[in-house]
Amino acid sequence: MDLIEAIYNCRAMRRLDPDRPVAKERLVELIDAANQAPTGSNSQRARWVVVTDPAQKQKLADLNRRWAAPYIQPSLDNPRDDAHARMLKAVVWQMDHMHEIPALIVACFDYEEAPEGLEVYRQGGSLWPGVQNLLLVARSLGLGAAPTTLALRDQNLVREALGLPPTFAALCLIPVGYPLGNFGPVTRQPVEEVMRFDRWS
Ligand SMILES: Cc1cc2nc3c(=O)[nH]c(=O)nc-3n(C[C@H](O)[C@H](O)[C@H](O)COP(=O)(O)O)c2cc1C
Repeated sequence: MDLIEAIYNCRAMRRLDPDRPVAKERLVELIDAANQAPTGSNSQRARWVVVTDPAQKQKLADLNRRWAAPYIQPSLDNPRDDAHARMLKAVVWQMDHMHEIPALIVACFDYEEAPEGLEVYRQGGSLWPGVQNLLLVARSLGLGAAPTTLALRDQNLVREALGLPPTFAALCLIPVGYPLGNFGPVTRQPVEEVMRFDRWS
């Protein structure tokens, strides 16, 4: 698939087929692509846990429900518009089925030692290019995926569930599988609204 086509058609795909497994080779392909992304000082401290075991998936699904349910309830009660209501339905589907989704990929960053203040963000930024590589390659392989973070609000619980070393932070959870719905183009603000040349004002 053409890269530009993938970029413009890489929607968050939340409804994924529980009955269509994803081959291990495909999952390794995703992580291999993620691992090609740049990192600060080429530190290469992104780490990836690919969860396919049902009991392990259930633990992540429980963590997601714990934070997702109260987070989305006010929006469910009062959606902004039809598109928002449709997205919320998909978030609820994902919450109810997360334990059945073929693979839950947890993107981690190894800080090696406890970072201070804004270093958390500066260093942790080295994880996100890999996440985007993963999303784009998933799209090109016909796999649905979506970046999520709600399940990861309590890092101690995630570390315990996945046996992560204390220096790891789990920053993104990406459910992956073959989509039940259709791929389509993303809808974003016009480029003129989000950019300026030389100065903002
Ligand atoms: C940092 C980050 C965190 C996100 N967290 C969640 C999440 O916890 N749950 C979820 O369903 N989607 C999550 N998303 C997905 C966004 O809701 C989605 O990318 C956005 O609504 C655009 O959707 P679209 O690409 O389908 O247009 C997250 C996305 C990003 C980049």
